[in-house]
Amino acid sequence: MFVDFDLSNYYRLLHPRPVAVITSTCHSGKVNAMACSWFTPVSEDPPTVAVVIDEEAYTSQCIEESKEFVINILPAELINKIWTAGSASGRKVDKISKMNVTLVKCRKLSTYAIGESIGVIESTLIERIYVSGSKIFIGKVVATYVKEGTTGNYGWDLTKVSIPLHGWGKLFYILDNKSRYAYAR
Ligand SMILES: Cc1cc2nc3c(=O)[nH]c(=O)nc-3n(C[C@H](O)[C@H](O)[C@H](O)COP(=O)(O)O)c2cc1C
Repeated sequence: MFVDFDLSNYYRLLHPRPVAVITSTCHSGKVNAMACSWFTPVSEDPPTVAVVIDEEAYTSQCIEESKEFVINILPAELINKIWTAGSASGRKVDKISKMNVTLVKCRKLSTYAIGESIGVIESTLIERIYVSGSKIFIGKVVATYVKEGTTGNYGWDLTKVSIPLHGWGKLFYILDNKSRYAYAR
């Protein structure tokens, strides 16, 4: 039997889900980082991704100004840094310093990736869709790279790295080699 679930919290039924840190650079030259769990692959050829960003977020302004953004996948050990990126605005705070992470020059973009990432997806903005207070930025993926030894045939090698999933608020789940898995028949 179904029971009601608060419609205004519908998105919690779509969590836990992967979480990343988006880096981008504003016209001022400041590099910013923001936590993001509402993102998804969109197409394979050409490769595109979409990130959903609050229109008020500094990141939204930075992507509009620079027309590019980076999806940084941080390992589960760094959830506190992810939380820092998601709990203050870059308008007021230098989050790169606050997170105590290093920046590395992007391969194809003029902005920077986070050196502590295990995976990086660089993309250039090709489209934006506005939906009541949120912007869906769609980017063409122009470069992808990972830390050596972290991936296998199925993507992340969970015997080598732990992947954070965002529950809600400060709750994160950790996918690692102790997590259960199964192959469908
Ligand atoms: C784990 C986590 C995931 C988040 N996911 C999103 C998201 O998908 N979209 C969004 O607009 N904000 C999301 N947020 C909130 C933003 O990260 C937060 O508003 C941040 O302060 C925006 O930073 P900025 O103003 O420097 O861009 C998330 C926060 C956390 C902690």
